[in-house]
Amino acid sequence: MEKTNIVLIGFMGTGKSTVGHALAARLGWRFVNTDDVIEEQQGMTISNMFAELGEPAFRQVESKVIQASLKEGRCIVATGGGAVLAEQNRTVMKEKGYVVALTADAQTIIERVSQDQNRPLVQGDVAERVHTLLEVRKHAYDFADQKIDTSILTVQEIVEVILAEMNL
Ligand code: S3P
Repeated sequence: MEKTNIVLIGFMGTGKSTVGHALAARLGWRFVNTDDVIEEQQGMTISNMFAELGEPAFRQVESKVIQASLKEGRCIVATGGGAVLAEQNRTVMKEKGYVVALTADAQTIIERVSQDQNRPLVQGDVAERVHTLLEVRKHAYDFADQKIDTSILTVQEIVEVILAEMNL
């Protein structure tokens, strides 16, 4: 197989981490959640990073972490929802991985992200923020090799759909 990593992209709350863990367990590959690596490297939460250093600083670190995670192969990389906005990130994802976009309907996303205080871009009126950002990012995930709606499938079904498509 030419593509030796699987990169999960998609809006917040579409299940990238959950699916990534399950895929990694199934394949025996490493799992990297880029947000977790960023928090560990910076010694602060994503929310504090946005508040104290600003989003551009977060995006710079995010690009480096994505690049580093894709270096070795046999890695499932769950990226942050906004990682696809930078062209250099999209390029390295496509070059080094099989890119899977996870989607979910707006209501499912709102329910999932409402339970989490560590998503600075959807604080306040969560529903309004989600709808606005979904509109802004309507085509941001279109470059993926495969697209899967996670609001209608179980995690195991999603894993099987991905592996079947990749012939793994
Ligand atoms: C972001 C999504 C978050 C995190 C940060 C910014 C975004 O990751 O990277 O809050 O711009 O959509 P998740 O998609 O894992 O929530």
